[in-house]
Amino acid sequence: MQEDAPILEVKDLWKTYDNGVAALRGVSFTVRRGEFLGVIGLSGSGKSTLLRCINRLVEPSSGSIRFGGAEVTAMGGKDLSAARQRIGMVFQHFNLVKRKSVLTNVLTGRLGAVGTWRSIAGRFSPEERARAAELLGIVGLGDKGDVRASELSGGQQQRVAIARSLMQRPDLLLADEPVASLDPSTSHSVMRYLEQANQEFGVTILCNLHFLSLVRQYTTRVIALQAGQIVYEGSPQEIDEAWFRRIYGEEAKEVRIQ
Ligand SMILES: Nc1ncnc2c1ncn2[C@@H]1O[C@H](COP(=O)(O)OP(=O)(O)O)[C@@H](O)[C@H]1O
Ligand SMILES: [Mg+2]
Repeated sequence: MQEDAPILEVKDLWKTYDNGVAALRGVSFTVRRGEFLGVIGLSGSGKSTLLRCINRLVEPSSGSIRFGGAEVTAMGGKDLSAARQRIGMVFQHFNLVKRKSVLTNVLTGRLGAVGTWRSIAGRFSPEERARAAELLGIVGLGDKGDVRASELSGGQQQRVAIARSLMQRPDLLLADEPVASLDPSTSHSVMRYLEQANQEFGVTILCNLHFLSLVRQYTTRVIALQAGQIVYEGSPQEIDEAWFRRIYGEEAKEVRIQ
């Protein structure tokens, strides 16, 4: 694989759900290695559908998605599992197993690699345990490994989810509104760990975000969706008042997260 080849190429992607809703209508864009791409748009504009098509949690209706040069839409079971190994995901509601320990939650980031039966049995190698503990340290939760996930605050749970996603050493991380359930200061702490994953570990990031101020602060490039189509692609700094109103509607006012 060429170093400068795009990590992700999406071409003319369409998704129409069974109920007839056309969530994506001909979306095309390219992501280079090392980018932190923000995806913005009103609720219902297709952001989650787009992210979920990339790892095929949602089946695209038509179009092409190339990840590391390979066509994701054509992948069968084994190839798809291998691709998913390299694509981490972080969700708005964290999706931790609440009654399990924090360390176990991080270790299940290896689920695809070790097989479900091994992770259910709690059989992880000393190396895997050491890596999980190291990642917990990186997200500032080194002392929480034995605590039940349900005992942590929302921001802490999202940091566990980030550690879990990094466990599989992803090339690409998909984050679907990762701070939408968090208060402003916690949002920054979570965004900073995503930034660290991007800058220090070289993980390419695609992140759906609601607040433009976060987009401006953390992303290197942005695409804006409106009713399933890209209406803006470029620098987050160049989204001025006029663009903002075009993307979010005439009535919208920018809310800043300080
Ligand atoms: N599973 C689904 N079945 C049917 N329609 C869906 C489904 N998921 C999303 N949609 C519809 O697709 C459109 C895009 O939704 P979504 O991708 O969730 O947007 P966003 O993440 O930007 O809020 C919306 O009209 C939504 O109602
Ligand atoms: Mg969404």
